[in-house]
Amino acid sequence: MRVSEAVNSRRSMRVFKPGSVAKADIEWIIANASRAASNGNLQPWQLYVTIGAARKRLSAAILKAMDDGDTGPGAEYDVYPKQFTPVYDTRRKLVGKQLYTLLGVPKGDAAGMLKQFRKNYDFFDAPVGMILSVERRMGSGQWIDCGIFLDQLMLLAREKGLHTCPQAAFSRFQHVVRRELKIPGDQVVICGLALGYADPDEVPNNLITERAPLGDFTTWFEA
Ligand SMILES: Cc1cc2nc3c(=O)[nH]c(=O)nc-3n(C[C@H](O)[C@H](O)[C@H](O)COP(=O)(O)O)c2cc1C
Repeated sequence: MRVSEAVNSRRSMRVFKPGSVAKADIEWIIANASRAASNGNLQPWQLYVTIGAARKRLSAAILKAMDDGDTGPGAEYDVYPKQFTPVYDTRRKLVGKQLYTLLGVPKGDAAGMLKQFRKNYDFFDAPVGMILSVERRMGSGQWIDCGIFLDQLMLLAREKGLHTCPQAAFSRFQHVVRRELKIPGDQVVICGLALGYADPDEVPNNLITERAPLGDFTTWFEA
């Protein structure tokens, strides 16, 4: 598979098939992803991989916390900017609208939206649920490294015929994730990552999100 094929066929999948993923394939993806560049070769990422009963236990614990109103302290970092300027607000709303339209959830249908949001915590039924964290004392530089590592995981998954969905939703319930996976207090839970086989024809998986043209974010200096 060409790199461009992996890049262009990667998209966030939100319906996975139940079939399990060979542990050797998961290990292959993680080992290769760890070739990611990191400033000073710090390799600051920590990865928690849940499969089988452990994956289901993590999901059940978070969904129970949701049902019990045990929202905890929430995410430990700004998942989004505190204030959106119009361009980013428009993009975020557009993707939300496109996804919920595909799902057949009309605007204002709070129950329908909550039902979909809860699926995050079941890793959208993916057999592999990963949690990415970084040491609290690390700076923005190391968060860049973690982002690169996350992307490598997602792209390498494509070479094995697998799909992914990165999930900041897990940072909201980091108190439960931390408890279930025994993540030390010096780690910040960044996000989750669903990994598995996805049917690209499933309606929610059909969402091909838009991208801004190059001119919107690239400045050239040529002479
Ligand atoms: C760090 C990060 C966190 C994300 N968190 C969630 C999430 O919690 N739930 C979800 O459904 N999608 C999540 N996404 C997926 C984005 O919505 C998606 O990447 C974006 O809309 C672009 O679509 P694409 O991934 O299909 O290209 C996240 C993506 C990233 C990079």
